[in-house]
Amino acid sequence: MRKLLQIIIKEERPMTDQELVKKAFDMHQFSYVPYSHFPVGAAILTEDGRVFTGCNVENAAYGSTICAERTAILKAVSEGCREGWTAIAIAGRGEDYCWPCGACRQMLYEFAPEVRVIAARGDGQFQVVPLAELLPHGFGPKSLK
Ligand code: THU
Repeated sequence: MRKLLQIIIKEERPMTDQELVKKAFDMHQFSYVPYSHFPVGAAILTEDGRVFTGCNVENAAYGSTICAERTAILKAVSEGCREGWTAIAIAGRGEDYCWPCGACRQMLYEFAPEVRVIAARGDGQFQVVPLAELLPHGFGPKSLK
């Protein structure tokens, strides 16, 4: 019924922040974290209601590890979805909110400089800030013009 109402009234946000956070937490089961034992999940929501999820995937050569956010970003882009990202939820297991690392902020800025970033901590609480607050004066495609 809710889905039907969304279609009829064209609700701007097809999913609540809480629901997107849950999708990020659900990705912990796929995290490959034999070194840090710190699973992270991410979920990108698009304006047409699609969700691209990701988990962190570590590597014996530690520097080759990829964060959950970048896994989700690469999944979206490699499926042909480069724009219309409205929010990304990131879920860690720690006491602190799981804010994206510098590399992930930069990658997000490329495709979605105005995206809402939802950072969740282990107890399920979360905070929401625009990416511009996490990466002010970012360097992006426009900077090359
Ligand atoms: N990690 C993420 O996946 N996203 C973040 O925002 C912070 C860190 C991962 C990388 C590594 O697998 C583990 O968390 C510990 O740093």
